[in-house]
Parts: sequence; structure tokens; C-alpha cells
Amino acid sequence: MATSEVLHPLPGSMPWHHGLHCDPCRRMSSIPLCFKVHPTPSGISGVQDSKGKRYPAYTNRCPKKQFIPPWRVVTKRLHCLSCECQRFEGSPGTSDDGSNGSFLPDETNKLNPSSAREKLAAAAAKKEKAMRVKADSIEDEAWELLRESIVYYCGHPVGTIAANDPSSTSILNYDQVFIRDFVPSGVAFLLKGEYDIVRNFILHTLQLQSWEKTMDCHSPGQGLMPASFKVRTIPLDGDDSATEEVLDPDFGEAAIGLWWIILLRAYGKCSGDLSVQERVDVQTGIKMILKLCLADGFDMFPTLLVTDGSCMIDRRMGIHGHPLEIQALFYSALLCAREMLAPEDGSADLIRALNSRLVALSFHIREYYWIDMRKLNEIYRYKTEEYSYDAVNKFNIYPDQIPPWLVEWMPDKGGYLIGNLQPAHMDFRFFALGNLWSIVSSLAASEQAHAILDLVEARWDDLVADMPFKICYPALENQEWRILTGGDPKNTPWSYHNGGSWPTLLWQLAVACIKLNRPEIAVKAVEIAERRISRDKWPEYYDTKGARFIGKQSRLFQTWSIAGYLLAKLLLAKPKRAKILISEEDLDLVNSFSSLLAKPRRKRSRKGHKQSYIV
Ligand code: GLC
Repeated sequence: MATSEVLHPLPGSMPWHHGLHCDPCRRMSSIPLCFKVHPTPSGISGVQDSKGKRYPAYTNRCPKKQFIPPWRVVTKRLHCLSCECQRFEGSPGTSDDGSNGSFLPDETNKLNPSSAREKLAAAAAKKEKAMRVKADSIEDEAWELLRESIVYYCGHPVGTIAANDPSSTSILNYDQVFIRDFVPSGVAFLLKGEYDIVRNFILHTLQLQSWEKTMDCHSPGQGLMPASFKVRTIPLDGDDSATEEVLDPDFGEAAIGLWWIILLRAYGKCSGDLSVQERVDVQTGIKMILKLCLADGFDMFPTLLVTDGSCMIDRRMGIHGHPLEIQALFYSALLCAREMLAPEDGSADLIRALNSRLVALSFHIREYYWIDMRKLNEIYRYKTEEYSYDAVNKFNIYPDQIPPWLVEWMPDKGGYLIGNLQPAHMDFRFFALGNLWSIVSSLAASEQAHAILDLVEARWDDLVADMPFKICYPALENQEWRILTGGDPKNTPWSYHNGGSWPTLLWQLAVACIKLNRPEIAVKAVEIAERRISRDKWPEYYDTKGARFIGKQSRLFQTWSIAGYLLAKLLLAKPKRAKILISEEDLDLVNSFSSLLAKPRRKRSRKGHKQSYIV
């Protein structure tokens, strides 16, 4: 980049003039984020280390009006950053509910062991208690590990490292703070009343959103969040005795910031501190993400078009196009953003676009992604090459695409949302996160949501087996694996993203089950995980069809496995807390949805009638 510009001014900050001064100090207490993206000397994007690597330009505000290069955070000056981040005692949004309706085993029913039957019961209770003690210690261990994974920037917690595996010889990028990986950690901290780390994370990643990013000569649109970032300590120029800390974002595979919006809402709901979401820069950040997602493109569908590997599955797995996970997160983020956007004249158009997208998206997913026995039979009998508005087979799906495994696998009771839909292509694989989050966000209609859990119960041995939860089912094998993954040696059948089992998915399962008032399903899954997760050292994922082995290249002490388990426990213990993550069905949406269904099919688009999306 050859330009020098303030990428994203913070509200209330003075414009910075290169080479003149840095801003007067404001303590971390008033705004935890005392950093601002500053212009850099012309032609230089951020700071460069001795190997020529560039870092983003951040600065702290310092007490003296002396010249300090603006892209520096000097650890020597840390004393001026003492943190008085506000704590919010109690959680207005999720106040503890005394008896709390916990779904976990209750100890209060002590039995009197006078008869044989009572003795048996007492033995069972003892065993249960022993199990609880064990479980409690697993929980304690998980908390300890989670705290050890905290990453600090200038003395303040800003996130958690992806994995803390002392046995691993190759770190790869697991020493970074991944945006999506932090969500379960962040929510666990929120539920513990530790809000600072989440607030700092939200505000720092917001700053990274504005950082100029390029891939070769191309700069993607503003609004993209990095997928991860890292705190680096590098030597301070011209001073051998000092080092400085810089935040180094990784835009390698772009994230859209959907999780960021979801976490921001959870933060506000849990802490009661709405001042973060009300900040001008945060409101701008939300709008930037929305504009990016709602921008017109070539696409005809209301679903969001992404490349392969844009979600939890971040390598080639044949899910380019409109993968369910992205649609569920998109829907969820739109609802959360609508709740948080400050009403102002300037955002009326955006809110309108957002509302119409919500209707179109939910209609599209509920109608075209849904399959159960009835729908499958309908597809099986589809006629093809229908070219009219009345076409039943709108996407021209060839019935031959129904895979043989599905004919056996679809239970009589239950159903699910398919993984992806494109012209002439339905990806029938079951993707766990997309389905679970469709329940949580109400993207799936209520009966569909229940049917998804029915399917989970009916296919427990495939989806949970020895360790919850299968990331997708079934695995790609043979030629299909070779073609769709490009022969990826990490994604071999029933490993990693290709049918591996991921303990982190426990928390999304817990939220979905709590929302539908069927917590016993998640409780059962947590108990299965507890049998071995700690002994196995908290692996990132498990391999084989039945999840019997620790994954081939799985990291140990993977933070989101730890946090996913912990969060599931916290939520099941006090289910009302799940409210901070759940979006209930929107009645306005339901009404628009039913009027869409009631409308007779249009024969031909009327002139002057603006139809934004094909639903
Ligand atoms: C794997 C996961 C990805 C996660 C990353 C770091 O690549 O697929 O979702 O963020 O590991 O843990």
C-alpha cells in the first residue's frame, strides 16, 4: 500500500498527524482498547521486523507528548496501562435462578439404606456421587487449562490460544487466537462473570477488521475480519534492551465476522454492559460486516456465497457455494445485528435490506435444504428439466444424486438440513454445526428443529458413538475423497473434517437441546465425553467411524475442546443462561413467511415489481 490513511478512526480521538505526536494517554480503564490504527509512513504498511515481515500499526496512548512511532506498543511503557476494566457483578440478562432448573444429576435425594432396595439405591447414589466428584474435577481441570490458554496483549487478556500442546513439535498456526475458536472460551468467561477478556477481544478484533489486507495485489473489501491473530514480541528498533508487542492478524482465509457479532450480543446480554455495542466504532464495525454480506453480487439466491473452506471446515471438502453452516451463522448474525443496531436515519436502508434478507433466507433454507423421508421420496420421483415458474424441481436436481447410504440412513422419524444447495446439486451430507446452529438461531422451523434432534437420537451411534460430535456424516471416500479434497492427507475418510468427531461441538449441542427443552440428549453426550476426554488430554478431534481413536494429527489440549465441554456443563447446570446465545422465532418473520407461502405462484415477473431474491 502506498497510501497513508487513518483506516478506522476511533470516536473521540484526535486526528493523528504523522511524525507530530501521539495521542495523550487514556488509561486502559476508560476504554480497554487504547489502540488505534494509525497512518504509517508513506509506502509502509505497519511495522516491519528484522525479517521484513509487516505488522499492523497500533499504538497506546502515552502520558508524555513526546514523539513515539505510532505503530508501536512498547512493553517498557506497560506501567502506564494499568487496567481498571469495569466488572459487572451479577448478570442482569442471565441472573442465577436459585434452584436453577439444572438438568444435571441432583444430590439432594439422600436415601436411608435400611432395606435391600434402598441399599442398592444408596450404592447407585454413591456411584453417581463418585462420578460427580470425578466430573467436578474434570471441570476444575478444564478451567485451569482454559486459564492457561489466555493470551495477553500489553498485560491485558485478549483471547485464548487455539491449542496449548506441549507434546507437539510443529506448532503450525495453533499458537494463534482464532476468532471462531474463542467463542466458547469467551462465553464460558462471560458466564463466570469475567467480562474483560471478551470486551478486549471484541474491541481488538474490531481494529483488525480495518487493517489493510492484501493477497498479492488484491485488497478484499473492508469489513472482513481476520480468521486469527497472534501477539508477537519483537525487538524495538534502536533499543536492544526493549521489546514491543504487536498484533499480527491472519487474513489467509477470510472470516466474515459473523461469530464476532454473535459474541458481541452475548457480551451485552450477559454483562448488561451495552456501552460496547453502542460505541460508534462498534456500530460501524457491525454495519461494515452487514454491508459486505448484503452487497449485491451475481448470486440469485438469498444464501451467502462463499468459497470452499470458509467455515469451521477450513480446507477443501467440496463445500463451496452455500454451505449450511455459513447460512446458519449468517441468519444468526443478522438477527443479533438487528437487535444491536442503533436506530438512526442512516441505517434505515440497511435495516430494510436486512429484514428482507432474513425472510428470504429462512424461506429458502426451510423449503429447499430440508429433507426427511417424505421429501426424499419426493426428490426420488422428481421430473427434471422443468423450465417454468411452476417447476417443482426448481434446482433441477437429478434423482440419481440421492446417495445409496441416505436411503438407509434417513430415519422414519426425523430429518435434517442438507449441507449445500446449488443448481443441479444437493450435498446430502449431514453437517453438525449448521444443523445445530439452525436450531439455536431459529433458522429451522420449530418442527424441523425437533426433527433434527429426533435424527440425532435415531442415529446416535453414527453421530455421537464414542465421542461427540461427528463434524459431518458420512465421510468422503475413495474417488470422491480424491476429487473433492484434492487428496488431502489430513482429511482422509473418518478423520479431521472428513467425518472426524469434534468435542467442541458439545456446547452447540447443549444450546440446541436446551432451546428445545430436550437437555437430556446433551447431558448424555457430555457424559460420554467425560469418560475419556481428560484422560485423552483434550484432543482437537477423534478419528474412525465410531470416534475410537484420538485423531491422527490431532492437537492435544485444544482450547475449544476444553471450552466446548466446559460451556456445555455450565449451560446444562443453569439452562436459562443459554438465552444469551439463542434467538427465538421472530413473529414478523413467521407472518411474512406464511404470506409468502399463501401467495399464488407468479407466472411471470411483473414490470416494476422489485423482487430482490428468488425464494
Ligand atoms: C481447524 C478447524 C478450525 C479451527 C482451527 C484452529 O482448522 O477446522 O475451525 O479454527 O483448527 O483450531
